[in-house]
Amino acid sequence: MSASASWIARDAAAVWHPFTQHATWTDDDPTVVDRAEGPWLWDVDGRRYLDGVSSLWTTTLGHGHPEINAAIAAQLAKLDHSTFLGTTHTPGIELSEALVALAPKGTGPELTKVFYAGDGSSAVEAALKIAYQYSTQTGHARPKFVRLNHAYHGDTLGAVAVGGHDLFHEAYKPLLLETIGVESPGDRALGADRFTMAVSHLGSVMHEYGDQVCAIIVEPMIQGAAGMLDYDAEFLRTARTLADTYGALLIFDEVATGFGRTGRMWAAEHAGVVPDLLTCGKGITGGYLPLSAVLAAEHVFEAFLSRPGDTSPRTFFHGHTYTANPLCCAAALANLRVMGEQDVVGQAARLGERLGKLLEPVAAKDGVVEVRRLGTMIGVEVAPAGDRTGFRVCRAARDRGVWLRPLGDTVVVMPPLTLGDNETELLVEALDAAIDEVLA
Ligand SMILES: Cc1ncc(COP(=O)(O)O)c(C=O)c1O
Repeated sequence: MSASASWIARDAAAVWHPFTQHATWTDDDPTVVDRAEGPWLWDVDGRRYLDGVSSLWTTTLGHGHPEINAAIAAQLAKLDHSTFLGTTHTPGIELSEALVALAPKGTGPELTKVFYAGDGSSAVEAALKIAYQYSTQTGHARPKFVRLNHAYHGDTLGAVAVGGHDLFHEAYKPLLLETIGVESPGDRALGADRFTMAVSHLGSVMHEYGDQVCAIIVEPMIQGAAGMLDYDAEFLRTARTLADTYGALLIFDEVATGFGRTGRMWAAEHAGVVPDLLTCGKGITGGYLPLSAVLAAEHVFEAFLSRPGDTSPRTFFHGHTYTANPLCCAAALANLRVMGEQDVVGQAARLGERLGKLLEPVAAKDGVVEVRRLGTMIGVEVAPAGDRTGFRVCRAARDRGVWLRPLGDTVVVMPPLTLGDNETELLVEALDAAIDEVLA
């Protein structure tokens, strides 16, 4: 029995995996990852795979980066954990300063304060609660959220409520907050007019419900989990204007798009628009440790200030045990420092261009519906050819040494931002051959 087979048997006996149907889990011959370095993963049998999806969209500089390793080790020798409730610590303060300095600039308020959470979903959850409480403290309670169809903002109930993925949304519908779904400007099913339809739908929803809406939430520029549905930056400018007109907050969920993925530090920069609340996570620690944050505008923060004895106390009663864990903050600080020193965002923009060029022949293949790309966020949609076509393409790529994960029949390509030329070619060659094998 191989090492993988024996570990999979033990896994099947004791583990419940996320987003996984366990009746068939072992049939899919899962990969048992043992170690990683740079853009490479090795399994317990010593097979090597290129990490083509940055370990679920997180790894920025590659695995085992010496500077992030050293920063975590140094922090570990000093302070492992201390609570952010009632005390503070230097890595938490320094990271907040760094994030505020990096925050997007443009039309909209300055983002001046950082509230920490653990994962992308918990940052979204915090942003939703801030938005609702802000409405109660600045005028009147506005219990509704406006969201885009096909959106994905995470799996906690608030985040699911503002999601628009039918499968996840429908399953929990009776439990969800009140939200209003708007056509997505990236929805190919709407045809060439999708942008106009989405803008007009958002306008009419705000016209009808505006004074009940506390926030409009969007994934800026590209709906990742929907299958990399990119859309026109103008939509974000419209959303900014409508939010201002009707007194709602604008939330950009940059959990997937933040930290260079789209070829800019933030997707918001493509539009020159700044939201009132910006959620981020995934790549913040370079893909090492769970940490997420909400960047907030000063006017939002100020609406939460009150003094003892005030008739309406305004504290944000929300937080987690491991909020701003010092090891996570140290990893994030090292990641951001290296990103700045080595112009990793510029590298990401160039990597995206190169991937775009290399994928042109793939896009022209029979059976490839569309290749969608913003920076290094790429979706290669294949036409269904039998069951689980996207999954089978990823398995065929794995046989060629490249690890990919699909979203339905869209194969996601989202490598570490510093991927070298040879690895970039290997990635595209393996995907190309895998598509040929499955669609033949
Ligand atoms: C835009 C967006 N928001 C939120 C999340 C949820 O993040 P997490 O899985 O870390 O909770 C994701 C995850 O893919 C995401 O893409």
